[in-house]
Amino acid sequence: MQEVEFVTKGEIVLIHNEVIDCILTRRSTRMFKEQQMEPEQLETLLETARWAPSGGNNQSWLFTAIQDKVKLLKLNDLVKEGFQHWIPDDDYPGKLGAKKSSQKEGYNFYYQAPTLIIASNRPNYENAMADCSLALENIFISANSLGLGSCYINQLHWLRNDQGVRDFLFELGVPREHTICSAAAVGYIDKESKAPIRSENTIHIII
Ligand SMILES: Cc1cc2nc3c(=O)[nH]c(=O)nc-3n(C[C@H](O)[C@H](O)[C@H](O)COP(=O)(O)O)c2cc1C
Repeated sequence: MQEVEFVTKGEIVLIHNEVIDCILTRRSTRMFKEQQMEPEQLETLLETARWAPSGGNNQSWLFTAIQDKVKLLKLNDLVKEGFQHWIPDDDYPGKLGAKKSSQKEGYNFYYQAPTLIIASNRPNYENAMADCSLALENIFISANSLGLGSCYINQLHWLRNDQGVRDFLFELGVPREHTICSAAAVGYIDKESKAPIRSENTIHIII
């Protein structure tokens, strides 16, 4: 039987292994190096996305990885433009802030990461977001294991009905009928992010 290693964290005792370590050390990166990842790294990230669970084994997602800098910058311009006439439809606190910062000089919604992976899914499918989010988490954890940083990017989900953004994504192969669920910015880390404190009282064990 495999030997189990333990590590104490404050008052709790955790089992220690590479996978758990990789999950716990993942952070959202917001400063990336220009250097592109290796093709095998991208293949690996996308393969781990494909192996995420999906509701009823639907696998109706599509992962579109963009590494062309000119196309990424064009998408950034369209996001900036889209935010100008976008009205948040709920009180999610980040939305107004995101709209405001999009009009600032030098704004870049994917933090100038050299790779952006967009997760879209078929319409009218209740588990579209859940499936894509699980796939994205696989990308985030795998990226960390490969020495890459990553960040969840919400802007394309918010602007999923924006005509300019959708026309361009269609040109890039994202079907018009797909809903844009989420995106992942990935690349080598230029500046490590601090770990935000985890909230207390979010775990309840009943024995
Ligand atoms: C649904 C969701 C949407 C997010 N959207 C963004 C985003 O648009 N931009 C961003 O910088 N971070 C985004 N994040 C990352 C969170 O800010 C981050 O996970 C949180 O602050 C905790 O930090 P950590 O990931 O380093 O542990 C998002 C995370 C989730 C789960």
